[in-house]
Amino acid sequence: MAPKKIVIDCDPGIDDALAITLAHGSPALDILGITTVGGNVSLAHTTANALRLREFLGFPGVPVTAGAAGAMVRSAIEAAHVHGETGLGEAVLPEPTLPLADGHACDFIIDTLRAQPGEVSLVAIGPLTNIALAVLKEPRIVDWVAEFTILGGTFTRGNRTPAAEFNIAADPEAAAVVFGAGWTVTQIGLDVSTTAQATGPIVERMRALGRLGSELLIPCATFYGMVTASEGPAIHDACALAYLADPSLIEFRPAWVDVETAGRFTSGMTVVDFELQGRTPNAKVGTAIDVERFWDLAMDAYGRVAASL
Ligand code: RIB
Ligand code: CA
Repeated sequence: MAPKKIVIDCDPGIDDALAITLAHGSPALDILGITTVGGNVSLAHTTANALRLREFLGFPGVPVTAGAAGAMVRSAIEAAHVHGETGLGEAVLPEPTLPLADGHACDFIIDTLRAQPGEVSLVAIGPLTNIALAVLKEPRIVDWVAEFTILGGTFTRGNRTPAAEFNIAADPEAAAVVFGAGWTVTQIGLDVSTTAQATGPIVERMRALGRLGSELLIPCATFYGMVTASEGPAIHDACALAYLADPSLIEFRPAWVDVETAGRFTSGMTVVDFELQGRTPNAKVGTAIDVERFWDLAMDAYGRVAASL
């Protein structure tokens, strides 16, 4: 089966880095482009990290295009306390030598989807600002995209606030545009991703991956959170890319999702209604992931990348 063509919109970011590595190593995926957005750290850092990852991992022909520095109407928020000042924890990758593509991320997304209608899947693992700008500029992308998947939101508890997950909290207005665009969003939220933890045994499997383990995966995972035999940091974004590689990994339910933009304490909340009451769902919302098979798929992909370094 031909690999699935994907465009990754991201804010690397530690779990973004592990997601991009998984995508590059997976024989089921073909990265057509990477677009960056301000989020975990500034756009300058997220873009520099995407450029570093491209060269370190070895896909120099894939364009990297920068996008929005911050939210559409709110001041930017960030999570350097989680991802480190540069955004990749304690991983120090060589400085990039290849250039950033010209133009804006939203135009790259529009042009790529227009050129191959029905062929390309779009996955957003950062704030949704670039996606919203693309939808507002060219609403037909909702018809051109093969599938649109996000790592974002939650139908239980948030991680930026009790109500809101970071990617949605960073730009609630953009998320509202995205969920109201007329497509069916594949939403993989914290309800799923918090179970994908890099525990001690997982880090030991990373230790067997040579430079990829020692220079990227382990310094990222261990910085991202405490690692014990049974607990570890959730590698959120990698769940979205693993899903694209093997959709059977995650269970979903159809839902109507609204995004709270006005709540004093709930801004950025994805209000997930599984009771459709006759409405056509605007989302399919992830409810569970097969954690063991997720890590087997991730480690297989990481092993392929490690062998190529
Ligand atoms: O809430 C987790 C999400 O927020 C991940 O995408 C992480 O990289 C941060 O952007
Ligand atoms: Ca991210």
